[in-house]
Amino acid sequence: MATEQVLVADLRYEDAGEWRALLCEHLPAEVGLHVWPGDGMPTQMDYLLMWQMPPELLPLLASTKLCLTTSAGVDNMRPLLAEHPDIPLVRLVDAGMGDQMIEYALYAAMHYYRGFDHYRRQQPAGLWHRVLPRDRADFHIGILGSGALGGRVADALVDFGFTVSAWSRTPKQRDGVHCHAGPEALPAFLGDLDLVIVLIPLTDETDGLLSADRLGLLPPHAALVNLARGQLLDQAALLRMLDADRLRGAMLDVFDQEPLPANHRLWTHPAVIATPHIAAISLPAPSAEQIGANVKRFRAGEPLVGLVDRSRGY
Ligand code: NDP
Ligand code: OXD
Repeated sequence: MATEQVLVADLRYEDAGEWRALLCEHLPAEVGLHVWPGDGMPTQMDYLLMWQMPPELLPLLASTKLCLTTSAGVDNMRPLLAEHPDIPLVRLVDAGMGDQMIEYALYAAMHYYRGFDHYRRQQPAGLWHRVLPRDRADFHIGILGSGALGGRVADALVDFGFTVSAWSRTPKQRDGVHCHAGPEALPAFLGDLDLVIVLIPLTDETDGLLSADRLGLLPPHAALVNLARGQLLDQAALLRMLDADRLRGAMLDVFDQEPLPANHRLWTHPAVIATPHIAAISLPAPSAEQIGANVKRFRAGEPLVGLVDRSRGY
């Protein structure tokens, strides 16, 4: 008999039925499931599982013991973090997203390394111009972020033979990866890349990190891939740079407004590939397993996996 309740709010996926079944399978028997808004307004919310914090549920937070997200990023929770500093918040750690990020990053790396952007642009004019191959080791890829996802992407790109650097908040060591840390290291890091892949969380510190000035540090032959959050990047500055051929191209999976409005220039710019926030989708099976395990750990007073550090914001 359930004595506690997980409220699942605002699932952003079409397969809500599958999530419900898998969560029931992985939650402890004492914890029931209530899906909002489908199951109506709850009276109790011991645990809250969500992608975004629905304002309607804010009054119920007073009795909530633990918040969990169906995402790796927790930037959506910034207001909640500020107003309820006492409720622990856990996020998904990899949970099947690492493999998907690797696939996206490899696709992007191959696109620019093999010059597919070049062929895409010359095709409408029927041009037959070949770009000579070069060594993978001569193609320098920088990853902003060296965490659960950025770290796996870095390792995969190293395995593929590219020269890989990574930038993080605190110093790191990673086999085969040139590691850099802290704001003072960023200008030199950006200035030496063929491709930059963004995989850092959106926090008060990183909001607007890729400003016009910082984008200006990238060499003109560099391309940019944003897989993290749109607000990290000044989209208007990026468009200006692409228009001026001051940057090679961009692959963007995330935008400061989502869905990206249908008439936005980023959809049609010849140097942009835009995808609808699909770089890594939270898969129901590994996510439900991780969420269920965290609820069990919480009830047993054990350390949680993916506990968000309030002071860092991620
Ligand atoms: P992690 O928390 O595991 O890693 C974050 C990395 O960013 C760490 O290396 C961290 O440094 C670094 N970082 C954080 N703040 C700064 C800073 N101020 N300066 C420099 N480096 C910083 O996150 P994940 O790898 O799990 O996820 C990264 C992001 O990817 C998520 O926050 C989310 O926004 C995005 N995402 C996007 C998806 C999509 O489909 N497009 C899907 C899933 C996630 P340190 O190592 O020192 O802590
Ligand atoms: C995530 C995301 O953070 O989907 O998990 O963007």
